[in-house]
Amino acid sequence: MSKEKVNIYEQVTPYDSDQESKKAQVTTMFDKIAPYYDFLNGLLTIGIDSIWRKKAIAQLQETKPRTVLDIATGTADMPLEIHKQLKPDSIIGLDISPKMIELAGKKIVKHKLTDTVSVEVGDSEALRFDDAAFDAVTVSFGVRNFGDLRKGLSEIYRVINPGGKLMVLEFSKPTLFPFKQLFNFYFKYILPFIGKFTSKDPKAYKYLYESVQVFPDYEDFAIILKEIGFNEVKFKPLTLGICTIYLASKH
Ligand SMILES: C[S@@+](CC[C@H](N)C(=O)[O-])C[C@H]1O[C@@H](n2cnc3c(N)ncnc32)[C@H](O)[C@@H]1O
Repeated sequence: MSKEKVNIYEQVTPYDSDQESKKAQVTTMFDKIAPYYDFLNGLLTIGIDSIWRKKAIAQLQETKPRTVLDIATGTADMPLEIHKQLKPDSIIGLDISPKMIELAGKKIVKHKLTDTVSVEVGDSEALRFDDAAFDAVTVSFGVRNFGDLRKGLSEIYRVINPGGKLMVLEFSKPTLFPFKQLFNFYFKYILPFIGKFTSKDPKAYKYLYESVQVFPDYEDFAIILKEIGFNEVKFKPLTLGICTIYLASKH
């Protein structure tokens, strides 16, 4: 993809509505699928999603962050794993979907982690935190859903401490023949079919496929991170490129 294309990448929305912003449609969609989200993640990835999160968080071990913000936290699987691996003093999980945050809160209570972990409703594009408030920010399977990607990433940059890190885990498009073709068939046809009947939202898993197709991955996402101001941008594809870990520093 050329630099120009990275700048004007096409936006897809869950319900193809002209009346509502992408952000509003994304919020509605995640509110709807929240009760089925954990079950479907496990089913559709045959449990590999938890391995991806583990590997992604392991990238931050050297940084030893004391304060971590997990954006697009969903049902709080990331904060739980961050606590397990990194043991920071505080973790905040933030998500735009009130239903996701309701479930995240219950999970934190169940794991008796309320002293270290808190969760709240919030928008990545308008963070309530001071500049340089966190040693690390993490976003797993979230950036693709931002209404305005650059605005969300700039806000993240603002709240990271100089010397701190951003870790993004996001779906990417496998490139290797014949895995690319096989995975694409599963991702385009089988996954939305299963998702349709188990999530009660026929559009959600079609949006998942479509949003991954248009989202800048590998070098293209790295270019965007550099344009925002991040340094030392690295990426590491997982499971033949189904998803990719991006690690970036703020100097
Ligand atoms: C696919 S889920 C990922 C959840 C979790 N991080 C995980 O790894 O399972 C994407 C989440 O991003 C949230 N989200 C989308 N746009 C957001 C925004 N602008 N600000 C904060 N959260 C957002 C959605 O509500 C949803 O819970």
